[in-house]
Amino acid sequence: INGKQNNIVWHNCPITKSDRQQLIKQKGCVIWITGLSGSGKSSLACALSRALYNRGKLSYILDGDNVRHGLNSDLSFKAEDRAENIRRVGEVAKLFADAGIICIASLISPYRKERAACRALLPEGDFIEVFMDVPLHVCEARDPKGLYKRARAGKIKGFTGIDDPYEPPLDCEIVIQNNGDNGFCSSSSSLSEMADNVVTYLDQNGYLK
Ligand code: PPS
Repeated sequence: INGKQNNIVWHNCPITKSDRQQLIKQKGCVIWITGLSGSGKSSLACALSRALYNRGKLSYILDGDNVRHGLNSDLSFKAEDRAENIRRVGEVAKLFADAGIICIASLISPYRKERAACRALLPEGDFIEVFMDVPLHVCEARDPKGLYKRARAGKIKGFTGIDDPYEPPLDCEIVIQNNGDNGFCSSSSSLSEMADNVVTYLDQNGYLK
């Protein structure tokens, strides 16, 4: 239902995104971290948020697991609910970016179509997609929550990478590869290296002035 059909009219406020950004001396954007369960999305999100904090920049994390405790607690893991989960987080992330905040969304977000729709909500350049390129066998070996084990035992149906699809990005801004050889995210230095990778991108693209 669009606004016209529903008698809803957009209301503009004289304080603009640009005003807000000047006030807090930041440029809002969305860093969208996608990847399999156990690929290190949440760990990277936290390390990145810390690195930005240390540089005096305000960020906020929208983590799939956490958002599903509240805003999206009505959604399951069937395809249409995952799509709605991604859509809602995309819309909320857009609001954070509009407020001038660096929003870090970390969701499996397995479908290209929905990730592209979230990208399309933001001005060109303001949606920065980060792919945690970690092979399934590495995620499964880590299995931090024991979910792969449960999925293999048939106790969880439709688990991403096991019996539900994950569509890797074909063209994204940042790819973080980890084949597990370096101790993965258990090593805080490799975690901070991953965060530095993203910070460098933000720096080079004018998001940390
Ligand atoms: S999605 O696909 O984007 O809607 O998923 P997301 O909101 O990021 O939630 C992923 C976390 O939910 C847990 N979990 C599952 N993941 C994948 N498939 C199934 N069926 C499933 N059931 C529960 C799991 O802990 C995911 O957390 P991460 O942090 O990705 O490991």
